[in-house]
Amino acid sequence: MLMTERDRLASEIRSLAAKLGQDRTSLIPILLEVKRKYHTIDSYAMQVIADLLGIHPVEVNSVVSFYAFLGGHRQGKFVIRLCRTISCDMQGKSRVERQLENDLGIRFGETTPDGKFTLEFANCMGMCDQGPALLVNDRIHTRVTPEKVHEILEACRRVFGVHAAETKEVVFK
Ligand code: FES
Repeated sequence: MLMTERDRLASEIRSLAAKLGQDRTSLIPILLEVKRKYHTIDSYAMQVIADLLGIHPVEVNSVVSFYAFLGGHRQGKFVIRLCRTISCDMQGKSRVERQLENDLGIRFGETTPDGKFTLEFANCMGMCDQGPALLVNDRIHTRVTPEKVHEILEACRRVFGVHAAETKEVVFK
């Protein structure tokens, strides 16, 4: 029998629940894994998770909507979050913002058409004395300058080399 995308997703979520637990305390760990693998959490995934954990889909939806890092919308393979809080703002956040937008050809809140990069603003990351601070997926960069933006994006782009595997790690200097 042919397995559809939905079958595959449901089967993956069932395996995650078997591994991570089938009660509501496993909700965020499961959501994080789904987001990491599929870069999005759609309504079907939320329904499957809700059924498995015995909770209402509205509850799953509200958790996904509440946490920016779980955002149900599709994001690029690299999600770049720039701190927009006051210390970083005063330390040159706008120059970094402009450089990112110019280099990627998108505005904050958007994803490149090839699905590789998403730009988002974030609130304080606790690195206020080393701003501007930038998060690339789960890796923090501090004292970011427009020149450093170029290096960071180049390191990300190397991951997408001709035969680069989806899971290949990015190496920042
Ligand atoms: S204000 Fe940007 S990290 Fe705190």
